[in-house]
Amino acid sequence: MKISILYFSLTGHTRTMAEEIAEGVRTVPGTEAGLFALDAIDKDFLAGSKAVFFGTPTYLASTCWQWKKWFDEPAPCPLGGKLGAVFATANFAQGGADIALQTLITHMMVKGMLVYSGGGACGHPYIHLGAVALKENFEESKPMFRVFGERVARKALELFPEP
Ligand SMILES: Cc1cc2nc3c(=O)[nH]c(=O)nc-3n(C[C@H](O)[C@H](O)[C@H](O)COP(=O)(O)O)c2cc1C
Repeated sequence: MKISILYFSLTGHTRTMAEEIAEGVRTVPGTEAGLFALDAIDKDFLAGSKAVFFGTPTYLASTCWQWKKWFDEPAPCPLGGKLGAVFATANFAQGGADIALQTLITHMMVKGMLVYSGGGACGHPYIHLGAVALKENFEESKPMFRVFGERVARKALELFPEP
C-alpha cells in the first residue's frame, strides 16, 4: 500500500519530521512510504496512495500559506476517500501549532478526506490532532513521529485491506 508523506519546509525541521514519519510507516509490512516536498509531489504516487500525511511549519499561528495555496488550487488527483493525517513544527508551545493542524484538517475535510490521528485511543504517546515538534524538544519528539507514522499506516491497512 502506498502512503504519501507531503511536507513544506524552508529550514528543514518539518522535512526531518516527515522523514521520521516515513521511518514509522516503513515498520509496517505491506506499506510503501513516498516522501515528497510540496513542490515536488509525485502525482502518480499520490494518486495511488491510500493515506496521505501533510506536514507544515507553523506560520503566524497557522498553516504556512504554501499549503493554503496548494489546497485552494485544483488537487493533482482526487483526494476524496483517502485517509489523512497531519503534523507540524513550531518554535514554541504557545505558537499556534494546533491551529496549523486544524487548518490543514479543515482543508482535507473539504476535499473529502478521512482524517485520523489515533487520538487518545492508542495510549501513550497521546496524539490528539496530529504530531507536533517544538524547537525546545525537537530531538526528543522524533520517536513520537515514528509512532505516529506507524499508527496511521496500520489504520490505513485496516480500512483498505489489500488482497
Ligand atoms: C514567517 C514565519 C512565521 C513563523 N511563525 C511562527 C509562529 O507563529 N509560531 C511558532 O511557534 N513558530 C513560528 N515560526 C517558526 C517556524 O514554525 C519553525 O521554525 C518551523 O520549525 C520551521 O519549519 P521548517 O524548518 O520546516 O521550515 C515562524 C517562522 C517563519 C519563517
